[in-house]
Amino acid sequence: MRDRLLDSFKGTNISVQLETVNFLEIQPLTEEQLPAIVELDKISLGGLWTLEGYKRELDSPSSHFLVLSGELAIGETNSSLLLGFGCFWSILEEAHITLLAIHPGYQGQGMGKLLLYYLMRLAKIQGMERATLEVRVSNGRALSLYQKFGFKEAGKRRRYYQDTGEDALILWQSGLQSPEFTGILREWHQEISDSLASHGWQEKPLAVNTEQ
Ligand SMILES: CC(C)(COP(=O)(O)OP(=O)(O)OC[C@H]1O[C@@H](n2cnc3c(N)ncnc32)[C@H](O)[C@@H]1OP(=O)(O)O)[C@@H](O)C(=O)NCCC(=O)NCCS
Repeated sequence: MRDRLLDSFKGTNISVQLETVNFLEIQPLTEEQLPAIVELDKISLGGLWTLEGYKRELDSPSSHFLVLSGELAIGETNSSLLLGFGCFWSILEEAHITLLAIHPGYQGQGMGKLLLYYLMRLAKIQGMERATLEVRVSNGRALSLYQKFGFKEAGKRRRYYQDTGEDALILWQSGLQSPEFTGILREWHQEISDSLASHGWQEKPLAVNTEQ
């Protein structure tokens, strides 16, 4: 369609610029996605969990695992690509965020914010009061993302990461059930949509029930 339209202007002095919009979709993890998730884990998290580990997430009722995929328009064909994933465990009224990863080729375009937004929204819907996570002290990008979403430092776990002996910062955010948080979620979503649109991305209507 796009190519046919461009062809129809060839040989004329009319120049045409078509903006490409690629679509993003958030869905719960499915069994078929497991091998691709393990591949993405290797390239974005350095091989944190095995296939068995991810399979356990599928089977666990307290695990809430969201997958971000993209539909890219290339010529006349659309191709689908796994772009990221995030997960939290609900433990009593606390959401423990265990994973957040975006494909290295697509970082810095707002997708990390989008996934975190949907995790927080889902946590609120699931009745969680607070959210918490651990982050390496050296992971400035992730830290700045979490701080932007209102997470506050509450302590440190000394030498928490076995590979480097690095400390983990413990972050918390409370008030997920407050009326203010509903407004904050709405503002985040607008800001995230704008930043994704500036990189040519648009969200598809939700396939997962994360209604507020
Ligand atoms: C951390 C991660 C999930 C962020 O996802 P992302 O798609 O790259 O981030 P976004 O584009 O949504 O940016 C979110 C915020 O992060 C910060 N950020 C993004 N790129 C940054 C950079 N190069 N330097 C510093 N901060 C940066 C900004 O605060 C940004 O918000 P802004 O665009 O409104 O300024 C992603 O980089 C990733 O998968 N990293 C490897 C795995 C990892 O570290 N996971 C977190 C474990 S706790």
